[in-house]
Amino acid sequence: MEESATMHAAFIERLGPPEHIRYGELPAPRPGPTDVLVDVLATTVNPVDTFVRSGVFRTPMDFPFVISRDLVGSVAAAGPGAPGFAVGDLVWCNSLGHGGRQGAAADQAVVPVDRLYHLPDGVLPTDAVTVVHPAATAYLGLFTHGRLRSTETVVVAGAAGNVGAALVALAAHAGARVVATAAARDAEYCRSLGAAEVLDYRDPALTDRLRAACPQGMDMYLDTSGRNDLDSVVDLLAFRGRIVLLAGARTRPILPAGPLYMNDRSVLGFVISHATTAELAAAAVVINRLLPTGLLRSRATETLPLRDAAKVHHGMEQGDWHGRRVILVPNRH
Ligand SMILES: NC(=O)c1ccc[n+]([C@@H]2O[C@H](COP(=O)([O-])OP(=O)(O)OC[C@H]3O[C@@H](n4cnc5c(N)ncnc54)[C@H](OP(=O)(O)O)[C@@H]3O)[C@@H](O)[C@H]2O)c1
Repeated sequence: MEESATMHAAFIERLGPPEHIRYGELPAPRPGPTDVLVDVLATTVNPVDTFVRSGVFRTPMDFPFVISRDLVGSVAAAGPGAPGFAVGDLVWCNSLGHGGRQGAAADQAVVPVDRLYHLPDGVLPTDAVTVVHPAATAYLGLFTHGRLRSTETVVVAGAAGNVGAALVALAAHAGARVVATAAARDAEYCRSLGAAEVLDYRDPALTDRLRAACPQGMDMYLDTSGRNDLDSVVDLLAFRGRIVLLAGARTRPILPAGPLYMNDRSVLGFVISHATTAELAAAAVVINRLLPTGLLRSRATETLPLRDAAKVHHGMEQGDWHGRRVILVPNRH
């Protein structure tokens, strides 16, 4: 009888705190005809991974459930219905570990062919793995949901964070004028990503400064800090301006309804988890175009073995990973 293959993985057997994450052996996954089997070179931890693990974000899953959304790896096998991928190709994915799919925190992962993209030549797996989630989020917020045009002004609050930096880079690259808010120490960083103006988010006169920086009004406003101060922001929007909500799950802001609807303004929200494969693929095209330029890159990373996944989840929930991203590497490397 054929002995079934096993692999190492970080997984949970029920929803709960970080201590529920175990590191151990699981049966190696078997790809279906339209899947690609990937040897994982690197994965990471984003805030959403902690929401999925704890149950704050509910999504279909089978236990034992391998955690993590994102991977960069090399193709180990491709099914007959997975054209375009050959053994050894370097690839990435940012939509595992939710919606019934097992995650990326393992030696191997099965990726449906319509969720897998080639890693551009010359890009290091470790450089790509921490940005594919924030960058796709930024793309979806700006373009899929926000419908940003190159003639518009977009305000990015929390511009020096992981999602914020990608928002600035993608919006500026598309030709939009970007006004950023960030800590004073991060102003130069935001400018290097393409922000035309950077305002200190701690300035008590921030609302007035935003008004001055956007004399025609803001066409789009995104707040990665999740403060969602809509009371101040709605009045700063241009005619048909959009507030795109993407963070601050527990906020219950005051919404000035009159100035909103009487100026054709709108508030919309999204999570990347609900993106279609076509939307994710559109984001991937732009991400792959920009990855080799170095414009999409985490500012600070730390590499740890995959067996430390529980420790990283715990630290992220304590705020220890603020401003940094982890690269988790399976131990066989
Ligand atoms: N909707 C989605 O699909 C989606 C996808 C990915 C992430 N998210 C969410 O997006 C949020 C950001 O994620 P991230 O990975 O980018 O986190 P992050 O790297 O910690 O970035 C958050 C940023 O907010 C800044 N900030 C804090 N207080 C601020 C304030 N009062 N005004 C302006 N900026 C302020 C922080 O600046 P300092 O460094 O100075 O404190 C930091 O740069 C998280 O809540 C995450 O869950 C949502």
